[in-house]
Amino acid sequence: MTVQEEKIQKLVDKRAEARLGGGEKAIAKQHERGKYTARERIAQLLDEGSFEELDMFVTHRCTNFGQDKKHILGDGVVTGYGTIDGRLVYVFAQDFTVYGGSLSETMAQKICKVMDLAMKMGAPVIGLNDSGGARIQEGINALAGYAEIFQRNILASGVIPQISAILGPCAGGAVYSPALTDFTIMAKGISYMFLTGPTVVKTVTGEDVTQEQLGGASVHSVKSGVTHFVAENGDEALTIIRKLLSYIPQNNLEETPIMPCTDPIDRMEDKLNTIIPDSPMRSYDMYEVIGAIVDNSEFLEVHRDYAKNIIIGFARMNGQAVGIVANQPKVLAGVLDSNASRKGARFVRFCDAFNIPLVTLVDVPGFLPGTGQEYNGVILHGAKLLYAYGEATVPKVTVTLRKSYGGSHIVMSCKQLRGDMNYAWPTSEIAVMGAEGAVGVLYAKGAKEAPDPAAYIKEKEDEYRDLFANPYQAAKYGYIDDVIEPRNTRFRVIRALQMLATKKVANPPKKHGNIPL
Ligand code: HXC
Repeated sequence: MTVQEEKIQKLVDKRAEARLGGGEKAIAKQHERGKYTARERIAQLLDEGSFEELDMFVTHRCTNFGQDKKHILGDGVVTGYGTIDGRLVYVFAQDFTVYGGSLSETMAQKICKVMDLAMKMGAPVIGLNDSGGARIQEGINALAGYAEIFQRNILASGVIPQISAILGPCAGGAVYSPALTDFTIMAKGISYMFLTGPTVVKTVTGEDVTQEQLGGASVHSVKSGVTHFVAENGDEALTIIRKLLSYIPQNNLEETPIMPCTDPIDRMEDKLNTIIPDSPMRSYDMYEVIGAIVDNSEFLEVHRDYAKNIIIGFARMNGQAVGIVANQPKVLAGVLDSNASRKGARFVRFCDAFNIPLVTLVDVPGFLPGTGQEYNGVILHGAKLLYAYGEATVPKVTVTLRKSYGGSHIVMSCKQLRGDMNYAWPTSEIAVMGAEGAVGVLYAKGAKEAPDPAAYIKEKEDEYRDLFANPYQAAKYGYIDDVIEPRNTRFRVIRALQMLATKKVANPPKKHGNIPL
């Protein structure tokens, strides 16, 4: 072997060593846990053969606890870049086979390097998390590493899309990086997120909980809303990332690519002409409306299991990615409450930050009344959604299907919140409140004095409905741009989006607003 050949062989050997991470035994254990290794995950996530790995030969610099004798090439995270559907992305995947994927100073530097590259190039960054938290042997240097990552998450927010998949443990302060990113995906049975684990919980509060009960995928999808998506397993989590990115531009200065559309834009949906029940007390399924108007009925729902009284997610209309926000009459009659408002607000802000037009479908009877909501700060949470819509400068198309009452009418992208095209179905009722509530306030005294109070109330309610339970009062003032036939909704919304494609609106210059957090 020549000297050069020897050197090349050394490189090949070192690469092979790095690719083994924590070694064959640790890899086998990872597989036994039902999890893939970091490199297997990256290979599955990215377009075949597109991954370019960086910093394969990085090792930690810690000398505590005999660490100076244990160096593993790559040090607990695999980083680099590649493509998804041909579009550039940066990726880091924590390698649980190396010190349990725990974060060292050098590992943080590797992650920061790809985040910096992603910012320079204006491309999404994807983190695959599977880690025991701060590398205990490194103490404060590991904490500093986390802080470096968080700072970058914050500066990248609203500039490049940031996506986190939790594919193992994610505990302690480590949870804040995913929380700062735009979307979090957890997989059933393998993902856990909590600030303090079951042992600390037991010591401090006396509560007995398992990891799953404390921070499993179902907890964070249904109860806390921390995760936006739940996958059946690790494979599906990676598929969701690919799908999600297809709706999102590379950065805040770009538009999402328009996809070819095979679904006729003038497709009439006759079932929409009969979907609204005669009785205002009866519900229908908003998913049917969404499915009927978007391209090929394809809808990527975000937060599917959280605050189900509002529906949010991505779809395409004539190939153009849109963010859908819709009240769901089937759940709590589609009322807005604290959780629904927060869920909607964050989504509206994401779409606005990344130039994704908003299509809002309204059937909302109001805000949920009661001490539960008031004590919980529904005033502030409702204001978040209001703020998000009012601040948004992307094209905004609103369709009112049925109820649109009071404060909730305003919040759901009304004309005065700079709604660009506000349509209403003939079945819509746009008013200060419903007939029962209005008559209760206006005619309480009259009802007491009436010979037949029930008949009196009914007469007044009918009178109120005739006057207000329709879209024409709002249309009379131009608050509604047109009353449209339900079956024609797809066509009208697409035409509006086409017309709005060149929309340019700027908010007043400021450092940043003060959204009621
Ligand atoms: C160093 C760690 C580690 C850590 C795990 N390992 N966590 N090494 N620092 N934080 C090592 C283990 O010693 C073990 O090494 C290997 O990783 C695999 O771990 P196991 O325990 O065998 O795996 P498992 O049974 O699946 O349990 C996984 C686990 C558990 C639940 C994550 O390892 C665990 O509880 N780890 C500690 C979690 C923790 O308290 N982290 C610090 C949180 S404080 P060997 O050599 O035996 O294979 C924190 C502050 C961050 O993160 C603040 C940021 C702002």
